[in-house]
Amino acid sequence: MNLRRFQSGISSRGVFRAVLALTGALVLAAATTTVPEAPKANPHAADPWVLPVGEPALPEGEPAAPIRRHCALCHSFDYIATQPRLSRTGWAASVEKMRAKYGAPIPTNDVPALVSYLVKHHGKE
Ligand code: HEC
Repeated sequence: MNLRRFQSGISSRGVFRAVLALTGALVLAAATTTVPEAPKANPHAADPWVLPVGEPALPEGEPAAPIRRHCALCHSFDYIATQPRLSRTGWAASVEKMRAKYGAPIPTNDVPALVSYLVKHHGKE
């Protein structure tokens, strides 16, 4: 068999097999496809919208202001509240991680107050 015949033989048989396989697949897909059921009526459709009630993660008031200013840009306070009570070193590392890794724009001067707040309200000395 010369190369030319070999190539043409492969390609025409190959194309035929591909078409056959594709047709088979389409027939199979058509046979197994089921029409999705219409969605059932929502039993809560008449309910008014009720937002979940959550405890504020941080006590209100002035001491929390720097935390609100610096820590609420990217995520909720739940990120803080759901942490285990961390030591001063732990919170300092956490705040540093926010700054260094995630780019939190927290001035160096504000870090000690933030860490103290975190230790006092959600930490252990
Ligand atoms: C620039 C955005 C940004 C700011 C500002 C920011 N964080 Fe985060 N923080 C993140 C990201 C991103 C994660 C990781 C989110 C995730 O894994 O789903 C995170 C996660 C956390 C976590 C979960 C534990 C961890 O290390 O992943 C804690 C606790 C946390 N932040 C505390 C703070 C505190 C405290 C402040 C303020 C001092 C702060 N964040 C400010 C971006 C920020």
